[in-house]
Amino acid sequence: MPLPPGYTLVALDRVESTQEEAARLLQQGKAKNRTVVTAKSQTKGRGRYGRDWVSAEGNLFASLVLCPAGDLSGWGQLGFVASLAVAEAIRKILPPESKVQLKWPNDVLVDGKKIAGILLEIKSDPQGKDVLILGFGVNGVSHPEQAEIPATDLKEQKAEKTEPEAVLEAVMAAFEGYYELWQEKGFAAIREPWLALAKDLKKEVAVRFAGKEIKGEFVDIGSDDGALYIKKAGGQTERIACGDVYFSHQ
Ligand code: BTN
Repeated sequence: MPLPPGYTLVALDRVESTQEEAARLLQQGKAKNRTVVTAKSQTKGRGRYGRDWVSAEGNLFASLVLCPAGDLSGWGQLGFVASLAVAEAIRKILPPESKVQLKWPNDVLVDGKKIAGILLEIKSDPQGKDVLILGFGVNGVSHPEQAEIPATDLKEQKAEKTEPEAVLEAVMAAFEGYYELWQEKGFAAIREPWLALAKDLKKEVAVRFAGKEIKGEFVDIGSDDGALYIKKAGGQTERIACGDVYFSHQ
């Protein structure tokens, strides 16, 4: 499976989590910048906020070890880079009429249902330098039925390919393009195409974070950090750095 030049693949069978495996290889000095760790299945796949990520064989589970330039505070932007790349990759293998969208901060949706998720974690290399482990899961042939957000998979959406290797190849090709763009032009070059695919931009949404929920119009994402901007009924705009968006009409 050809990855873009400069990337190394470590393909494993059954692991607890590719995030753990990538971190372990990094600690042992065996995973350098741009190493992609994949597994056929995960026994303890994890999502954002410590949620479980259902990880049956046939879906894609990958963790990319990345040493981005610049300050750690800007690395959150790479979740937007990755979700945009996944959206572009799956758009190419889905029927042309499929509606591929992005849900803040980093979920990829098809026909309003979640098909892929991104997880960003910071770990240290043996020298103590910060390294990003960017995990992504794409539902190829199965999806959880009882998810908080309705889910789907590539097979259900009649994709022309569902094999994890083919999906990874498409995702990494798109990722390399957007990663280069981010490195050269910064977040502004990512934010625009991300917003163009954003579900419910300028519409009413509900956002849950820190144990509370606010409702309002999804007006924008931050130009430097991708934070969510919600305009409440009273007219004031609230900035939300992390949380989950629920669509009012779901
Ligand atoms: C989310 O939407 O909550 C993020 C899901 C991230 C899942 C991927 S699958 C590969 C990698 N290994 C994990 O344990 N999680 C990420």
